[in-house]
This record gives sequence, structure tokens and C-alpha cells, in this order.
Amino acid sequence: RVAGPCALVMFGVTGDLARKKLLPAVYDLANRGLLPPGFSFVGYGRRDWDDEAFTDYFLESVKANARTTFRPEVWRQLAEGIRFVSGAFNDDEGFENLKRTIAELDESQGTEGNHAFYLSIPPVGFDQVIEQLDKHGLVDKTKKSPWNRVVIEKPFGHDLASAQELERKVSSVFNTDSVFRIDHYLGKETVQNMLALRFANQLFEPMWNRNYVSHVQITMAEDIGIGGRAGYYDGIGAARDVIQNHLLQLLALVAMEEPASFEAGKLRAEKEKVLAAARAPRSLKHHTARGQYTAGWAGAQKVRGYLEEDGIAPDSQTETYAAFRVDIDNRRWAGVPFYLRAAKRMPRRVTEIALMMRPAPHLPFQMSDTEQLGANALVLRIQPNEGITLRFGAKVPATPMEIRDVTMDFDYGTSFAETSPEAYERLILDVLLGDPPLFPQHREVELSWMILDPILDYWADKQHQPEAYVAGTWGPPSAAAMLERDGFVWRRP
Ligand code: BG6
Repeated sequence: RVAGPCALVMFGVTGDLARKKLLPAVYDLANRGLLPPGFSFVGYGRRDWDDEAFTDYFLESVKANARTTFRPEVWRQLAEGIRFVSGAFNDDEGFENLKRTIAELDESQGTEGNHAFYLSIPPVGFDQVIEQLDKHGLVDKTKKSPWNRVVIEKPFGHDLASAQELERKVSSVFNTDSVFRIDHYLGKETVQNMLALRFANQLFEPMWNRNYVSHVQITMAEDIGIGGRAGYYDGIGAARDVIQNHLLQLLALVAMEEPASFEAGKLRAEKEKVLAAARAPRSLKHHTARGQYTAGWAGAQKVRGYLEEDGIAPDSQTETYAAFRVDIDNRRWAGVPFYLRAAKRMPRRVTEIALMMRPAPHLPFQMSDTEQLGANALVLRIQPNEGITLRFGAKVPATPMEIRDVTMDFDYGTSFAETSPEAYERLILDVLLGDPPLFPQHREVELSWMILDPILDYWADKQHQPEAYVAGTWGPPSAAAMLERDGFVWRRP
């Protein structure tokens, strides 16, 4: 599937995300032969750059971060269509220049008037850029062809009301099917594989319910701190940054019913159904936890606390650790808690979904009081070490009948010779192709905020300040207490 003639216009090209992921992904797509001849890329930003300076910056980010090997001839061809327009978001002249530049590319590069506008900017800028695109006639909602699409990074809004407000603005300028909300987790191979695991096999689905599963733990742990992203992160926090989107999308995929097909509408319908049945815990006091890292360690390196990071207000209440329980009120999952946690400055980087199984109803073995079998578990390892682990008990050799936990592993790297493309490659290509299944729709965004809002409201109260945890540890005591209360413990992946 190669994209047709088009130009990609990006706002926020000097940001972390663009430099580390988006620009390299564009090059990787070109290198894999998935971009059309004449493909054009326009960066828009405040820097006082010309095309050449931006092209150099682009190249640097490609050399540092691209997945595929560098081929000068691919780069040369891509570089022919690279432009930069200097301007602020409220700068009318900048947007007029942008319009001229795009029109020039339509002619010289043959992009045929097909344009995707990628907003890789802090959420506060979404409104303004969309207004400007409209005001300067860069979008024509009445026409299907040539197409104009908008790509919006998360979080979409900061609560339900603001998400709805933003949606009104976006849909007044763009058609619903031209809006691509990014949740890069959906672009990950391992996340897509959850659908294969569940629906292409007979083995797992029979136990995928309350009869066999005692609870589910969804973890997104990062060892990094907030680095240079204070401006984005402070005031947003872990729950809005990744739980509202990535983790609730994972929950939807793991808990939903089988869609009639993988066509976007069918898939979305199932995700919406399960998100509508999911809710915040009844006891916000007992089943939520929130923390902020203090100075500690990242591996062997000493690191600062959150409040000492550059650009963070010294009295910031933003959480860098968020965990809570979600209940799903439907027949399949009634009584099975889903525990979600996401945090920075954990001992290691790992994202996984663990289905923890109920204990065997009866053990026909002699076991001493101290011997204890761990619960059977099926762990979907999203990253790193992408794969799946099944944990169960086995007889220890040369004992009468001693049982010990063992694991059986599937590992992507060893099972497949093909390498996984970066999530953003897949998603950018899908935008250019106009292929929507991997993009959350507005209703999913609304439902996610409906789950999260009561928790955020509860946390907004001054009484519920984030609890300290030392950088490089597994989070605050209240997080452990939350599971203990239900008779469980967090996995230490
Ligand atoms: C982003 C968050 O969506 O995901 C970041 O804004 C986070 O805070 C990042 O670091 C992690 O992505 P990945 O793909 O490395 O898990």
C-alpha cells in the first residue's frame, strides 16, 4: 500500500516527538518505498529558518533516530519536497506564506492539492491552528477530493467538557472522516497482535472471562523522567498523558467482544461498548493512587526529583505516577477488577497486560504452609522484549510432587525475521492512505474521559496531593495498599 500524491504539513517540528519519532518515521516510509514520488513535507514553526536550515535539522533527526539504514539517494529525493515556513500560530502572514508554499508544491511536486495537517503541538495550540487553517482557506470541508485531513496528537482535551468543545471546533472545519486522532499505542505491532491472539486462536478465548480471570493488571512503566518536556507535562500528569488514551485503549482491546470484522466502524463499535460499560471505582479513596517522584536513581545514575526538574513549578501537584481500578459492568467481566498504572522514573521501562488467573479450585498435593503457588498468568508484553508469557506451575524434578512456577515464552524477535516498523510509521501511512481503524474516534475519547473525570476531580482537591516515591522505585505505598486491599499484589515485571 503506497500513499497517493500528497503533502504533509507539520506543526511542532522542533518538538521532542517530531525530532525523535515523526521526522525519522517519514524518512523510513520513504526508504521502504511507501511514499509517492513528489511527496512533500512542510514544517511550520517559529524558528527563523529557511528550507535549507530545516532540511539540515530534518536530516540530523533522521540520522540519529531512523529505523532503516540511511540511503543518500532516498534522502535526496525526499529532500526535494521539504520546505519550512516560519511563523507563530497566531501569525496571519505566516499562514498566508504557508498557503503559498503548499500551492507551489502542488504545482512543482504534483501533490494534487491533497494535504494532511499534523498538529504535533501542546494541546493549548490545537484550537488556534485549526482556526487559522480555516481562516486562511487552507481547508475546504465541502470537497472530498482533493482531500484535507487533520492529525491531532493526544490528549484530546483535558476532561470531557473540553474534549467536546475541541471536537466542536475541529468538526466545524474538518469532516469527521478527515480527523485522525493519534494514539500511537494503536500503531504498535504488539497491540495489534492482541487482536490476533484473541480472535485468530481457539486456545485463549474460552478462559477470557470472569470464570477464569481473577483480575487484570495493565502497566506502563517508564524509567525516564520528564526530560525536556516540562512545558507539556506539568499540569497534565500521568493519567491524562497516557491512561486516558494508551491504557484505556489497551483495556478496550483486551476486554471487548469480537468485532464482526476489522473494518473501522465495527471495531470502534466494540471498543465503545466496552468503554461504556467501564467505570471508575466506587471508592476513589481506596482504589486510586497518585505519586510524584523525588530524587533517586535511574540505574546507577543519580537523578533529580520532579520538583527540581527544569521548568517545573516548585509547588507543582502534577502526578508522575497514577494508578486506579476500573470495573467493567458486563457479563464477561463483572467482578474482575482491571488495575491500571502508569508512571515515570520506575526501575525499568515496561508496558504489559497481565491476565491473572484464578487459583485452581482444589490442589490434590501435600503442600506445606509456606509453599505457595503463584497464580497462573498470561502476560502480553507490549514492550520491550515484545512477546507473550504464560506462567504456570510444573513439578520440580526429583521431588515427590513439589510444584514451582515456570514460564513459557513467545518472543517476537526470535519467532519472526521481519522487523516491526515504528508505530508512527504505520500511523502516518494510514493517515496518507485515509485508513481509519487505528485511530480512536470521538466517542471513544468521550467515554475515556467519562471514566477518568471522577478520578481527576477527586485528585484536584488540595487534600489529595501526590504521594512521594523515590525515583527508581515501584511507586508510592498507597498503590501497593490499593491492591492488597483486594487481596492482590502488583507484578514486578
Ligand atoms: C507518550 C507520552 O504518549 O508516550 C510520553 O506522552 C511517553 O510521556 C510516551 O513517554 C511513551 O511512548 P512509548 O512508545 O515509548 O511507550
